[in-house]
Amino acid sequence: MVVSNFGKNTEFFPFNQFFSFLIVKSRFYPVNLQLEFLKIMENINWSNLTFGYLKTDFNVRMYYRDGKWSDLEVTDSEYIPLHIAATCLHYGQEAFEGLKAFKGKDGKIRIFRMHENALRLQSSSRGILMAELPVDLFEKAVVEAVKCNERFVPPYESGASLYIRPLLIGSSAQVGVKPSKEYTFIVFVTPVGPYFKEGFKTTPVSIFRDYDRAAPLGTGTIKVGGNYAASLVPGEIAYSKGYSAVLYLDAKEKKYIDECGPANFFGIKNNAYITPASTSILPSITNKSLMQLAEDLGMKVERRQIPLEELATFEEAGMCGTAAVISPIQRVDDTDNGTSYVFSKNGKPGAVCEKLYNTLRAIQYGDAEDRHGWVTVL
Ligand code: PLP
Ligand code: COI
Repeated sequence: MVVSNFGKNTEFFPFNQFFSFLIVKSRFYPVNLQLEFLKIMENINWSNLTFGYLKTDFNVRMYYRDGKWSDLEVTDSEYIPLHIAATCLHYGQEAFEGLKAFKGKDGKIRIFRMHENALRLQSSSRGILMAELPVDLFEKAVVEAVKCNERFVPPYESGASLYIRPLLIGSSAQVGVKPSKEYTFIVFVTPVGPYFKEGFKTTPVSIFRDYDRAAPLGTGTIKVGGNYAASLVPGEIAYSKGYSAVLYLDAKEKKYIDECGPANFFGIKNNAYITPASTSILPSITNKSLMQLAEDLGMKVERRQIPLEELATFEEAGMCGTAAVISPIQRVDDTDNGTSYVFSKNGKPGAVCEKLYNTLRAIQYGDAEDRHGWVTVL
């Protein structure tokens, strides 16, 4: 059911009150459904959430047709009516984003760096010839998606967050390999716990030379579904062998570190934060933030190629991303030649990873000053 189709002049519309009203008092929903809503909320164990899909109340959508973006539509449907020849289904015209909202001690909701995600979606759109969504429309949709699902933002004490998933798809028909003329933009949200079930604990990762995630001049730098399809087989092999992710080497020479499953890689040594420069990795917004925080903490920041052998010199290593936050790496196994690079002998995260993790989380939850203007407080 489309709940509402808001016009352009809704800047000051009191969405919070409107949607709380809709949820618990509205005549749109029968009483049994309202009770169902309350039961769902009671059953959520916020501290034990995994990184999975949990149905929320609404998602928001915009449509690109005849060269224009539509107004924002709010719906409670989890489905999209889609043409069987839509380009997203056949030719991979699909890009997505991932960002998070956090509830602070003060009860306020904070969205982390959504401007950056808006820009990255534009870059992904340019990469696969999709219509670019203006930054202000992206931000408006994200804010509305969070506001109309406010009751699903996990409480401060739980350490969980609301994952926000914007996606853009080519939705009109083409049978020849051509870009779509129409696009559908959707933002849904879901409350999540840690991506790696261990949370802020070290885990092992593995190198497999037989698989590449993205080509050096391919689509690795943009966030398109095809990259993730390419990572499914090696990812499953890694999980089945007890690894939390695959550490990809550069596809051309297999000499340098690329990235780590759905996260960027970083290493720490001699008070330096070192992260790969590569033409096939996603420019992580978390990594960008950590580079800034490392600099704030007086560390040297290096973004450059990291030869595989350099792993032996790192004091600590980690994966970073919106979902992963910081996941410290216990060891990297090079399964092709039996070498193991161990970063944590006792299995505990290193001091620098811990400091960076705590500093980032404090900004996201509003416990530390937002010196760089990264947070949008609702
Ligand atoms: N690398 C890949 C392949 C990813 O999927 C992600 C997740 O978005 C990241 C890195 C981390 O990026 P970000 O910190 O912007 O979430
Ligand atoms: C994110 O960190 O937001 C991601 O997109 C990772 C994801 C593929 C689960």
